[in-house]
Amino acid sequence: MLWGSAISSYQAEGDNFNSDWWLFDRGKSSKASYFWYKWKEDIRLLKELGQNAFRFSIEWSRIFKTEKDIDYNSLDVYKRITEELLNYNIEPIITIWHFTNPIWFYKKGGWLINDNINYFFNYVELIDKHFDNVKYFIILNEPNVYSFKSYLEGTWPPNEKNLLKAFRVLNNLKNAYVMAYKILKRPERLISLSQNFIIFRPYRFYNPINIISSIIDNKFFNFYFIDRVKNYMDFVGINYYTRVFVKFLSNFVYNEISQKNCLGWEVYPKGLYKICKHVYKRYKKPIMITENGICTDNDFQRISFIKEHLHYLKKAKSEGVKILGYMYWSFLDNYEWAEGFGPRFGLVEVDYKTGERKVRNSAYFYKEVIYEEANS
Ligand code: BGC
Repeated sequence: MLWGSAISSYQAEGDNFNSDWWLFDRGKSSKASYFWYKWKEDIRLLKELGQNAFRFSIEWSRIFKTEKDIDYNSLDVYKRITEELLNYNIEPIITIWHFTNPIWFYKKGGWLINDNINYFFNYVELIDKHFDNVKYFIILNEPNVYSFKSYLEGTWPPNEKNLLKAFRVLNNLKNAYVMAYKILKRPERLISLSQNFIIFRPYRFYNPINIISSIIDNKFFNFYFIDRVKNYMDFVGINYYTRVFVKFLSNFVYNEISQKNCLGWEVYPKGLYKICKHVYKRYKKPIMITENGICTDNDFQRISFIKEHLHYLKKAKSEGVKILGYMYWSFLDNYEWAEGFGPRFGLVEVDYKTGERKVRNSAYFYKEVIYEEANS
């Protein structure tokens, strides 16, 4: 089984000047976790920490700084990252799109404009040609979260609040996904998306509005996109964080009495089991946990988070669910989008002023788990 952790380009690399998020946050992400400058030492660290897989993303805006010009130097860095991982026997899992777009793409209307998906295909074709040695690809990260945050809630660029636009974007992402799958697919490759799943429960189990709202949320947030691409996934990438209690549509609260992460999200380990069981039954495809993690300033809490979630993952596995791997989110503390640098998800602490790394105890705990699993 693959045991590793994940990062994304914009959140970890630093200096992504050509990305729409840079425009939106006015460069607040700055050097982020300095991954662009420290990837060699980070990969060595991954090895020392016993991990045998690493999920990272390619920044589209680094490769296509304009719609036509390919930056081969940047492409080369990603190729070297991949080779370095393979040299250490760490399985690279490449995410092609993790929320960020080149500024020129955003200025052309981004994912709202149907024809714009052709630009994405140029990028995917380039990746297809240059990463022969990579087996695992995640084409899109959480299209459901992106369309919600960027086009409905309006807290991420381009800050729209428009249901029709949110659906148009989802539809374009769906077409982009299917076509990208066809471009990339080869017998030896395993391709999917990372879907964010939330456990939705009614706020009051007897209140019809709460009940209906939670059913709608589950249907649309969890399954609308993935049901439409189910014939184009070799496995299912699951990102799981929390459970919510729904009052009315996107009006929800977290369980008051449970443990929370530093953003107030409930820690609900059993949810991982429930989602794995349901998803496996629904799609009959192997599962990879492509993200699961906690932001906390208390590393003991991170250790128990990992322990409890893995307990439920193992339970699902023992009941026949095929699990390809587990990627903790995140390998490094990093830039948490609109929340900035406050939330710390990392197995490895990052000093944002200097880029210095400090391995947390949870990383050593995870290393032991991996070792035990490999030898059991
Ligand atoms: C995203 C990550 C993010 C994490 C924690 C996921 O939805 O893919 O980019 O950092 O959640 O919020």
